[in-house]
Amino acid sequence: MEKRKQVYEGKAKKVYKTDDQDLFIQEFKDDATAFDATKRGTIVNKGVVNNRISEILFELLESKGIETHFVKKLDERQMLIKRVEIIPLEVTIRNIVAGGMAKLLAMPEGIVLEEPVLEYHYKKDELHDPLINEYHAKAMKIVTDEELDFIAKRSFEINNILKAFFDHKNLDLVDFKLEFGRHKGKVLLADEISPDTCRFWDKKTKKKLDKDRFRRDLGGVEDAYQEVLKRITG
Ligand code: TMP
Ligand code: ASP
Repeated sequence: MEKRKQVYEGKAKKVYKTDDQDLFIQEFKDDATAFDATKRGTIVNKGVVNNRISEILFELLESKGIETHFVKKLDERQMLIKRVEIIPLEVTIRNIVAGGMAKLLAMPEGIVLEEPVLEYHYKKDELHDPLINEYHAKAMKIVTDEELDFIAKRSFEINNILKAFFDHKNLDLVDFKLEFGRHKGKVLLADEISPDTCRFWDKKTKKKLDKDRFRRDLGGVEDAYQEVLKRITG
């Protein structure tokens, strides 16, 4: 597959065209940002780890009937993906209170939710990815009623699959963020699933093994990413 012009550069990834107009290449960088990119840094080999973890999780989901943009891993930092038009919604599912929900509702981190909580954020840096509800999403016409129903159902299914998977790896899946995109009339799971986009806590010690180590200057950032990969593959 011939790599062509870069079409997009985000905070953590670059996307390139290929000689097939339906396929793109997604390249994972080591760059890390937080708080609307006001905090910037590098997490050594994050791109390699996130490419591998995303590959494993996309394959797991595909094996359970969840369609994703993933086609195949190409090399250490790159995967071949289906070309999608990203729906500008960040779909967050929470199993345990942390981060944004703890702040929004002044709830202590660590409360286990009886039912998972789904949140939508409008993906718009200038507006700081505001929390919105489904009426806002439809009013902005960024997604249809039907697509939104599908996205919500899919997100809960993905949560069930991932929660069970990580449970076996002795990790609590605290929360995570998903993005979906349109490809040939279908809505596919897109973007990545990695310690950048999920919170993982060790089941016993509750040690944070995700990007919160970078956001909160906890140290041991690289080791945490490597540990998640080791648990997933081990
Ligand atoms: P939050 O608690 O800060 O809203 O984050 C919820 C989840 O979403 C957490 O697992 C981290 C992930 N996330 C992203 O992937 N991108 C983002 O820009 C933010 C703010 C969170
Ligand atoms: N990556 C996001 C940013 O740069 C936020 C985050 O993941 O905390 O703002």
